[in-house]
Amino acid sequence: MITNTKDFGMIGLGTMGSNLVLNMSDHGYTVAGYDKDAAKGKKLEEDDKHNNVDSYTSIEDFIDALSLPRNILLLVPAGPIVDAVISELKPFLAEGDLIVDCGNSHFNDTQTRVDELAKAKIHFMGIGVSGGELGARLGPSIMPGGDKEAFGRLENMLKDVSAKVDGEPCTAYMGSGAAGHYVKMVHNGIEYALMQLIAETYHIMKVQGGLTAAEMYDAFASWNEGRLNGYLIEITAAILSQKDDKTDGMLLDMIADRAKSKGTGAWTSTDAMTLPAPIPSIDAAVSQRTMSGLQQERWIAAEYMGKHTAAAICSDKQNLLSELEQALYAAYLIVYAQGLSMLQIASKEYDYGIDIATVASIWRGGCIIRAELLIEITKAYNANPQLVNLLLAPAFAEAIKTGEAAMRKINTKVIEQRIPIPVFCSALNYFDSYFSKWLPANMIQAQRDYFGAHTYERLDVEGKFHTEWSVKVQ
Ligand code: 6PG
Repeated sequence: MITNTKDFGMIGLGTMGSNLVLNMSDHGYTVAGYDKDAAKGKKLEEDDKHNNVDSYTSIEDFIDALSLPRNILLLVPAGPIVDAVISELKPFLAEGDLIVDCGNSHFNDTQTRVDELAKAKIHFMGIGVSGGELGARLGPSIMPGGDKEAFGRLENMLKDVSAKVDGEPCTAYMGSGAAGHYVKMVHNGIEYALMQLIAETYHIMKVQGGLTAAEMYDAFASWNEGRLNGYLIEITAAILSQKDDKTDGMLLDMIADRAKSKGTGAWTSTDAMTLPAPIPSIDAAVSQRTMSGLQQERWIAAEYMGKHTAAAICSDKQNLLSELEQALYAAYLIVYAQGLSMLQIASKEYDYGIDIATVASIWRGGCIIRAELLIEITKAYNANPQLVNLLLAPAFAEAIKTGEAAMRKINTKVIEQRIPIPVFCSALNYFDSYFSKWLPANMIQAQRDYFGAHTYERLDVEGKFHTEWSVKVQ
């Protein structure tokens, strides 16, 4: 066997891992693959048209195949399996070797692994990869974070295999430590909120608009030709056109209304609470997936409450669709604003050094939340790197104004109909709160001081105050 020749190693030859390896091979990189399942390795070798890939079921042979210092990528399920793989690898590694976790690992786990492996002078990087199985094969968006010097060993390969927008690669160094996995986590939080917004839009079209699947398809397909163009809008149109192969109806109507998740949205909300950073629309999207899972309870509760006398179905479908388009665009902006401002806050707190314009630019292509809107968002942050909130960018002032009016109309109409739209509502509430000079938080502070002597600050004098409130409630 010829040893120490392969540019990269890949552990985990499932669909994601294999597709990324084939993508690397297409760009001339040689790769050693490792998977205990020999069939997966064999299939990968067969699929590789360039003869750049060899697969191994023995860790020693895999290690021997790699050029020095070693660059080993992992695409295995996040969690304890990553630690198990690291433990298996570690006895064979030398100082300067690099392990790159390309899975959806929690950023705290990544930071722990970075610190642990640094003791043995082994580099560890967490890299977010978005775009699903097809993205891995044809060009994903890649969010690398960690040691900058080690990153230099991957940079060209990542640029080659990533998606391109106007010839620019959808990958860039995100920052130190676990920055790559952090950015990917927030990407997924945004993904949850955009998906829920689309689901709410579909609900409104179906129930309030009385639209047929064909009419809904037409709406999403035409929106995808305009400023709402993006992957999630495009796949929604595709989904709405899919016939069921078991009945005469549409497939979507036969899919159970219980949303599952692997937890990355909840991680985003949890860390937002810890930081803290306000991302109410992402929180609402996470909660609504959980709510959908309470299906049996909902069935009983719906019976208990009885049928709502719904208002007549909207008679002007075109007007409803036009309002929905404006409202959805504004809500999209508000969701990106929440996610990106959370990243700004987190970057300061964790000292990642994340540049928001760079994040927006690498999300323009390849990833699940890619959308034309991100081109304008990138420009807005490039024009003003100090921008504290996307909603303050002059480029979006007009869209926000028309979108605000449309969101208000939609929210009012739909709430009367008992159609739940938690993400649309939370987006509007975020807007109303953020642009509010005054919020009733003085009442909260007064209550805290009343029952717990937690003190409050005053508007007219600096300092902390406590009051012996005149009326005592026992
Ligand atoms: C991506 C996706 C991907 C994620 C799935 C499922 O960027 O390619 O975010 O990483 O695993 O979309 O996520 P949930 O199961 O939590 O919906």
